Amino acid sequence: MAPLLRMTSVVRAVCLVLGLGGCVGGGAEVESSVRGVQQGQELGEVPQVAVAEDLDPSDGVVRVRLVAERDEDGPFGVQYTYNGMSPGPTIRATRGDVVEVELVNALDAPTTIHWHGLHVPFDMDGVTWMGAPVQPGETFTYRFTVDQVGTYWYHPHFDTARQVDAGLYGAFVVESPDEPEVDADLVFVADSLDEHRGGDRHVAAGHGRNVRRWEVNGVEDGVVRVQGGQLVRARFVNVANHGYLYLNWDGDIEHIASDQGLLPSLQTPDHIGLGPGDRADVVWRVGEEGFDVWTEAYSLNGGLTYRDPIRLFRVEVDAPAPAPAMPDWPFSGLEPTPDPGYADIVYAFSGSDRTGTWRINGEAFPDVTIESFPAGEPRIIEVRNLSPSEHPFHIHGMGFEVLSVNGEAPAYYTYEDTWNLAIRDIVRLRVDSANRGDWMTHCHILEHAEDGMMTVLRVE
Ligand code: C2O
Ligand code: CU
Repeated sequence: MAPLLRMTSVVRAVCLVLGLGGCVGGGAEVESSVRGVQQGQELGEVPQVAVAEDLDPSDGVVRVRLVAERDEDGPFGVQYTYNGMSPGPTIRATRGDVVEVELVNALDAPTTIHWHGLHVPFDMDGVTWMGAPVQPGETFTYRFTVDQVGTYWYHPHFDTARQVDAGLYGAFVVESPDEPEVDADLVFVADSLDEHRGGDRHVAAGHGRNVRRWEVNGVEDGVVRVQGGQLVRARFVNVANHGYLYLNWDGDIEHIASDQGLLPSLQTPDHIGLGPGDRADVVWRVGEEGFDVWTEAYSLNGGLTYRDPIRLFRVEVDAPAPAPAMPDWPFSGLEPTPDPGYADIVYAFSGSDRTGTWRINGEAFPDVTIESFPAGEPRIIEVRNLSPSEHPFHIHGMGFEVLSVNGEAPAYYTYEDTWNLAIRDIVRLRVDSANRGDWMTHCHILEHAEDGMMTVLRVE
């Protein structure tokens, strides 16, 4: 598909290179477009979010402070921030690092931080199942070792739908010394703007299902500048409460990593679906041409809709040059585990937008039956979606392999922590974890989880 925007005059503001190639300042004028952009509209730059400062780089522990506070003058109204920013600072660590995050609660409400996708010890998981949240004025220090690699994120797990909607989230990147160096490692945190963002204006289940506006790193429909000849790793995180991304751009999609790090092999899908909570890493081998990054309009009530696609941002190439070669990624080459055809644990998802009632096995958190399995013994979980809504299924504290979707094995080995169930889907998953604890297991549509679509999976 041809690019839908043509540059007329480009305001070439000085491009400050932030860290590994992010860019702020300036803007670009566009002549016309579809995807919701007005004639001649100035496009702001999509900044790279600042990387959290390591408060004491001398001792090998990544030590970060996050202050959660209320901001009356956010770009989209009242919002909650970490260190004055939404998204909060990106936390970057290397596999094997000890990470210590001091949460300072300067909000007028209790809060916590959950490390989405990271297999942290149970008492560091930021949940309030058998524990108290961090009260206003208090601090709490989370400490854990990261022994995974990939793109994760952090967010509160107390009054979660409202606090995440209000802006409390950030990316958490774990690098691996085994993966090839890139010229720019960019993080794109995408949130929907149709979710009544604002600490006071959260609207509960059943509203705003058609997401029409998105922001990326706090900017709606901006510009990302890259250099021709660069190898760019782009990490996408969907932090929306219920908005789905169905990502696409002009040119090939080279998909290298998903929720839990590198895929078993390079994938070249025709789009990437990201439900709430999901992540994907792709590679852009930048040549001469810019391109639009957009999402098809997608509704949790049944997938693609007739609405126009929504542009997330435009990628502009400074100093066009031939595209670089693809480096060698240390893909595992793993094959999918065969589905054994039975399940040890079954979770049936039911509910309805009419009633706003969302259940797992007919139960509402916290009045739930706790399923359990012994540490280190694999188990098969079947998740059935019986409701007229899609649900991104998420388990804390461990990853899971997807064995089958409606009886069919996935095309390649698929290891995730968040997996979307389309309407009527039946998926079988394999868990195998030695991480003891009472792990929240829930739908990542936060309004659904809040209403009760959340249970506990115990590793004993
Ligand atoms: Cu993003 Cu219970 O988590
Ligand atoms: Cu749901």
